[in-house]
Amino acid sequence: MPVLYSRNGDVAILTLNEPQRRNALSRASVAMLLELIARARAEKARAIVIAANGPVFCAGANIDDLKAGWMSGASDPTDPALLFRALAEEKRPTIAAVQGAALGGGFELTLCCDLVVTGTESYFALPELGHGVIPNTALARLHRVVGTRRAAELILTRRRLSAAQAVDWGLANRLVPTGDVVSGAIDLALGIVQSAPPGAIAAAKRNLTHHGETDWARVLLSPADVPPAEWREGLRSFDERRKPSYDQFWQDV
Ligand code: COA
Repeated sequence: MPVLYSRNGDVAILTLNEPQRRNALSRASVAMLLELIARARAEKARAIVIAANGPVFCAGANIDDLKAGWMSGASDPTDPALLFRALAEEKRPTIAAVQGAALGGGFELTLCCDLVVTGTESYFALPELGHGVIPNTALARLHRVVGTRRAAELILTRRRLSAAQAVDWGLANRLVPTGDVVSGAIDLALGIVQSAPPGAIAAAKRNLTHHGETDWARVLLSPADVPPAEWREGLRSFDERRKPSYDQFWQDV
């Protein structure tokens, strides 16, 4: 199963469960996450925690699916941006429990949760540009959390941010020992939903996001802004475990 579902009282826990692929988001895992968010709603869970098994929280979009044209502009019900949108627009509090690296789409997933609990050994990075693709959801949301300069730095330089720096930059709310991220996220969730009513929580969330609206239509279309030859070379080189050769593309600039 690419994603596991469990309950801890009022909290639904969705656990990415493909550690052998470093929980890279695939068509299958995106579809299942969307189904499980719907299940949490149907069961009237009060909050949703997104967690992961293995040493890496999420290694971003599955590069095999990307090479096959995923996210290249065509309408696709498994586009990760639709998952990110569902999380961002969820009425219930959503909390990411980050127990390892959050890379690319994994980082973007955390940007679409309300709160983030990170383990001390985690790190956050957006490697997309090096693969000739763009972090389309981060382009829309990251600057609101860290400001434009820092967003540009993370996106353009692809630097890794340690868990402590992520807290310092406002990307994560709590820094806990790695083994405690899920319990920390559940405690945080319960603290909210056991002492406030659902309508007020939903109204707070709706208005918080309204004042910094995300243009999801543009998020969904923006991967098509990148010339296909560039992302084909970037993604192929990842597979072939070699440095990408981008010099050819600089000739026409
Ligand atoms: N898509 C598809 N497969 C991926 C993947 C991704 N985003 N990230 C990792 N994998 C696969 C690897 O290809 C490898 O497969 P293999 O066992 O068939 O060789 C397996 O997961 C384990 O990855 P590996 O790199 O050996 O693990 P690691 O623990 O040494 O490193 C990462 C973990 C996450 C640091 C590293 O896998 C990585 O950098 N992944 C790419 C992250 C990225 O660039 N994401 C943005 C994508 S646009």
